[in-house]
Amino acid sequence: MSLPKTIREYRSNGEGYQNLMLVESLLELPKSTEVLVKIHAVSLQYRDLLVASGHYRGIKPNVVVGSDMAGKIVIAGAEVKGWKAGDRVCANFSLDHLDGDTTAEIFATSLGGPVDGVLREYMNVPSHSLVHIPEHLSYEEGSTLPCAALTAYNALNGPKPIKGGDTVLILGTGGVSIFGLQIALASGAEVIVTSSSDEKLKVAQQIGAHHIINYTTTPNWDQEVLKITGGRGVDHTIEVGGPGTITKSSNATRMVGYIHVVGRVAEGDSGVSTLEITKKAHIYRGVLIGSVAQFNAMNRLFKARNIKPVIDKVFSFEQAIDAYAHLESQKHVGKVVIKVSKV
Ligand SMILES: NC(=O)c1ccc[n+]([C@@H]2O[C@H](COP(=O)([O-])OP(=O)(O)OC[C@H]3O[C@@H](n4cnc5c(N)ncnc54)[C@H](OP(=O)(O)O)[C@@H]3O)[C@@H](O)[C@H]2O)c1
Repeated sequence: MSLPKTIREYRSNGEGYQNLMLVESLLELPKSTEVLVKIHAVSLQYRDLLVASGHYRGIKPNVVVGSDMAGKIVIAGAEVKGWKAGDRVCANFSLDHLDGDTTAEIFATSLGGPVDGVLREYMNVPSHSLVHIPEHLSYEEGSTLPCAALTAYNALNGPKPIKGGDTVLILGTGGVSIFGLQIALASGAEVIVTSSSDEKLKVAQQIGAHHIINYTTTPNWDQEVLKITGGRGVDHTIEVGGPGTITKSSNATRMVGYIHVVGRVAEGDSGVSTLEITKKAHIYRGVLIGSVAQFNAMNRLFKARNIKPVIDKVFSFEQAIDAYAHLESQKHVGKVVIKVSKV
């Protein structure tokens, strides 16, 4: 296969996604322990908006943006074992998070933040960070897995993994939330989804949500969750709202239930008092994406239950800024994807 001498990549100057720079750089060949990947698709996350506006910790200056890609290996370095040209792969979000707990050093290997990311035509990836794309998924679908899907999987499969019959509360219909819905359903749970929009809730219902609540027309959605669960509250809440939702999430979660603290998309100034925490003996667990081992475990679940990521819209590489704008508008359900390679 003939390789180009130069590649195109999007870099951020921290002044917002509208000012991302599409630049050319020389194609670098992989080190002996790396593979060169031709990138086919990239998916966006809420984090990408924060990185582009400089509002994210520890960003490399002029970083190549994006954390989640799917592509094909075109060259495997001389010392690489177990991977070959032609393999369809994703890279783990934190390149060095192989298994077990993350650390500050490992988190500093996260793509599209402290190290250059994936919104480019080719990149070199250490072979230890690679994961096969499940066979039933396209490149576009595979590109949605590394951050949003793995975060939802890690949340629901922590120290006390989800089990059949558990009740799960999902806030909103963005990337992490829709994967949370799909993983919870695949695990045999009963799922309640909230959203700002009846249209989006219809989509959640089509995916399989058992109960839906519009949090705009039902501002006391926590009380509604209690009604649905017969006053008990849910076993697991995937908390993507943060300051604007955490008090109600606490109300809606059962005694000794899990609140998986993932994000902060909802503005507000609410907090949870230590009295509340002890009164209900809640278990708050911060989630920080996941490891290669968890990624492989998740892919086995996706294969076994034929889970297909929900893609809202696919943009071309040249339309990357429009893709960011679409993500920012929060009109999407599931994932926003950029098709990098035309072939
Ligand atoms: N800790 C981690 O490892 C990790 C990993 C991934 C993401 N995150 C964080 O998780 C959050 C979600 O990320 P994402 O990429 O999934 O975002 P996203 O795809 O942009 O989805 C955002 C969605 O949040 C929902 N939302 C907004 N305000 C809400 C509210 N008040 N109550 C309930 N839902 C609300 C909206 O859905 P509706 O219109 O349906 O309400 C919106 O579409 C972000 O804060 C992100 O930084 C953390």
